[in-house]
Amino acid sequence: MISLGLVLFSTFLCHIAIAGRTCPKPDDVPFAVVAPLKTFYDPGEQIVFSCKPGYVSRGGMRRFTCPLTGMWPINTLKCTPRVCPFAGILENGVVRYTTFEYPNTISFTCNAGFSLNGTSSAKCTEEGRWSPQLPVCAPVTCPPPPVPKFATLKIHKPSAGNTSLYRDTAVFECLPHHAMFGNDTVTCTTHGNWTELPECREVKCPFPSRPDNGFVNYPAKPVLFYKDKATFGCHETYNLDGPEEVECTKMGNWSALPSCKASCKISVKKATVLYLGERVKIQEQFKNGMKHGDKVSFFCKNKEKKCSYTEETQCIDGTLEIPKCFKEHSSLAFWKTDAWDVKPC
Ligand SMILES: *[C@@H]1O[C@H](CO)[C@@H](O)[C@H](O)[C@H]1NC(C)=O
Ligand SMILES: *[C@@H]1O[C@H](CO)[C@@H](O)[C@H](O)[C@H]1NC(C)=O
Ligand SMILES: *[C@@H]1O[C@H](CO)[C@@H](O)[C@H](O)[C@H]1NC(C)=O
Ligand SMILES: *[C@@H]1O[C@H](CO)[C@@H](O)[C@H](O)[C@H]1NC(C)=O
Ligand SMILES: *[C@@H]1O[C@H](CO)[C@@H](O)[C@H](O)[C@H]1NC(C)=O
Repeated sequence: MISLGLVLFSTFLCHIAIAGRTCPKPDDVPFAVVAPLKTFYDPGEQIVFSCKPGYVSRGGMRRFTCPLTGMWPINTLKCTPRVCPFAGILENGVVRYTTFEYPNTISFTCNAGFSLNGTSSAKCTEEGRWSPQLPVCAPVTCPPPPVPKFATLKIHKPSAGNTSLYRDTAVFECLPHHAMFGNDTVTCTTHGNWTELPECREVKCPFPSRPDNGFVNYPAKPVLFYKDKATFGCHETYNLDGPEEVECTKMGNWSALPSCKASCKISVKKATVLYLGERVKIQEQFKNGMKHGDKVSFFCKNKEKKCSYTEETQCIDGTLEIPKCFKEHSSLAFWKTDAWDVKPC
């Protein structure tokens, strides 16, 4: 029994000696594949290492045969990524990248005033080409601006033939009788369109009414429009409170509606007052009456301190209130000193 076993065992050993040992699954090489891939190989069996798509090695493929020792030879294969052509510069734009190797993606943006013609990113392919093709940054253009209703183009100088470039401007003007709402100037934007267009609307103003004690003149037309003018005046002894000329505004009303105010009679016989910072004799200065709105300062006495101070008053529509502190002397009381001759407090 024993001898039979021994014989069988020797036969087995003999077989191994002739056949050699099997090789194990070979070590992984980064970015490479091995064919055929098995868990073990008989001596004499061949394997081929090759780089995965997108990777290359200097020496190309590596072919090995499983030796009788059962140990694969040292494999120096190195697979490195393919490198796509340099794409680090984009005229009028910026490229964002880490490397230009497979399988990286790079991205693009254009400077203000330029727009991307192409895609915003590209990938380095297995073949070492950029896909899709690299874009270019093309100048932003705006078509001629649309002209709003009731407007005309006043200034439009497209800087590229019939089209405008980023930041070009155009200026509109409204037709007569029309007022502009919005900005008269539009600008070519980064989006290739224009900033918001203004609006022109017809604006009418009511006929201005005649002021009491005065008159108004305006164009003899059935309708008064934006920018039409009216002039006001007053009858004698009345003065205009407001501007002489007014204009029909874009709000459809008049820039002002002045009125006529009566001038003031001076009720004191004699006084020196301050008028526009000067000492003047009130009767001489305002011989023809004092205009509505005029201001004067009367001198008053401070009896205790024996000095003078001033108090201001204003002509309001025919009435000049004399300050209460002002004392008019009888012309007979020539020995009394007038307040305006007393030293100021
Ligand atoms: C974009 O590029 C293509 C190809 O280069 C060209 O035919 C096309 O006119 C360009 N478009 C613009 C808006 O520049
Ligand atoms: C601009 O437009 C006009 C009228 O549409 C045309 O006759 C002219 O050739 C254009 N000019 C350019 C430079 O495109
Ligand atoms: C009108 O727009 C221009 C530029 O588009 C700007 O410079 C200007 O200040 C604007 N005017 C008004 C009144 O908003
Ligand atoms: C211009 O185009 C941009 C982007 O399409 C849009 O958001 C904007 O509202 C447009 N501007 C005007 C004034 O139409
Ligand atoms: C004109 O009308 C507008 C709006 O109705 C108003 O704000 C403005 O004060 C008016 N102007 C005058 C001078 O009355």
